[in-house]
Amino acid sequence: MRINIVGGVELAYLLGIDIGTSGTKTVLFDEKGNSIASSLREYPLYQPKNGWAEQDPEDWWNAVCGTINDVISKSGINSADIKGVGLSGQMHGAVLLDKEHKVLRKAIIWCDQRSSAECDEITNTIGKERLIEITANPALTGFTASKILWVKNNEPEIFDKVEKNLLPKDYIRFRLTGEFATEVSDASGMQLMDIPKRCWSDEVISKLGLRKSMLGELYESYEVTGKVHKQAAELTGLKEGTPVVGGAGDQAAGAVGNGIVRAGIVSSTIGTSGVVFAFSENVSIDPKGRVHTFCHAVPNTWHIMGVTQAAGLSLKWFRDNLCKDEMATADLMKIDPYILMDQAAEKVPVGANGIVYLPYLMGERTPHLDPDARGVFFGLSAKHEKQDLLRAVMEGVVYSLKDCFEIIKEMGVDVKEVRASGGGGKSKLWRQMQSDVFGTEITTINSSEGPALGVALLAGVGTGVYSSVPEACDAVIKVVTRQNPDMNANAKYQKVYGIYKQLYKSLINDYKELSKILNEN
Ligand code: XUL
Repeated sequence: MRINIVGGVELAYLLGIDIGTSGTKTVLFDEKGNSIASSLREYPLYQPKNGWAEQDPEDWWNAVCGTINDVISKSGINSADIKGVGLSGQMHGAVLLDKEHKVLRKAIIWCDQRSSAECDEITNTIGKERLIEITANPALTGFTASKILWVKNNEPEIFDKVEKNLLPKDYIRFRLTGEFATEVSDASGMQLMDIPKRCWSDEVISKLGLRKSMLGELYESYEVTGKVHKQAAELTGLKEGTPVVGGAGDQAAGAVGNGIVRAGIVSSTIGTSGVVFAFSENVSIDPKGRVHTFCHAVPNTWHIMGVTQAAGLSLKWFRDNLCKDEMATADLMKIDPYILMDQAAEKVPVGANGIVYLPYLMGERTPHLDPDARGVFFGLSAKHEKQDLLRAVMEGVVYSLKDCFEIIKEMGVDVKEVRASGGGGKSKLWRQMQSDVFGTEITTINSSEGPALGVALLAGVGTGVYSSVPEACDAVIKVVTRQNPDMNANAKYQKVYGIYKQLYKSLINDYKELSKILNEN
């Protein structure tokens, strides 16, 4: 390895690659966690039918090759100085390969909803309680097992040729190293693992008519799973022999990149969806399945994750449909329209002058597991103005995150500090609302690279740059902002949250009725 000397100290570089749904982001870090160069390439999402979502694994591979080349040339470093590569990615997708290791069909990805019949099949075959005992979760359309069974039931000619089934980032690992491997955090979302024992479940795999040989070898997230081979080195610009570690599913990777590797610190991420992610030293399962329990990327630990479907999406929907003037003004001022929207919402008092918003634009995962739920503005009167609605949207999203927190707390998780991240975490106003509604301190850290940083740190652990995942996080992650709750606001929010919770209960049958009417047409 060429030696980089900074102030007399040898510096190592680590590469984090995040294969997301809208694009792949590759970031080169030094061992202090500084981002040296980054590159993003986008690709399409195919929706052949309502509720279906597919992507072409070749698009991911081209984006990975392009972004690695970009990052190496932008940074000007010698690729021999990259000590290790970590892979993060969208979870749950099914990439099916034949015996020549060619992709058999487009990958069916995480947000595809076609497999509810297969979820019933899984529950009936394994038994509801036994399934939760082994896989820690109820059968969900989002998870991989039901997607594979859908192919088995609906495209048997393709299923008969399946030799390997890989997750999105693990397909990229295969292209980089030639190895069929995965790691515990992402594999948890396939629903084929024994989550407490951190290994494949022979029982689930065989009862579902699958074979263990279809799956990759299972590693802990920091372990080296293979080395970049000659052909991949030529295509990416990486040095042949560079180690590739397990990495993590995007949520666990983002958690490592935010330092959620010890009890007491929880993250609250507002992206398109919203995720509350808690570290756990034990396998803790919500018997109602309202939150997911998966293996964490830290050995011998697990995590609990509550997901609200339309968090940032609710505000984006409001912006696109009702804030055209703000968007035009922001364009002239060359600023982000969300800054102007924040300024308008800030003028409205806590409680949005009596409007309560339910953010169920895409149904809801946590806590309702209800695809039929829909958005609501409640309490409108003739005195209300647009900014009242805007503030209500922001508050409603925070109530939906509070729903996730409530279940996580019910499960005995101690919450001392909440780290805000994602696009919504950039808004000081939205962070303050979170602090006031949750009644806890809200912090932000020195990096916004989340998943890419998380897997770069895992690569550093696997290649000996750091001694453990928590030590890696301690070396690079620092809290840079802190906001504390205003307890008067907290008292007001508590009252409105009571109405928010009651509204879903009042509407549950109407949602079902509305869905029936819509499906008639
Ligand atoms: C996690 C989940 C998403 C996807 C895509 O359960 O569905 O985080 O990984 O980002």
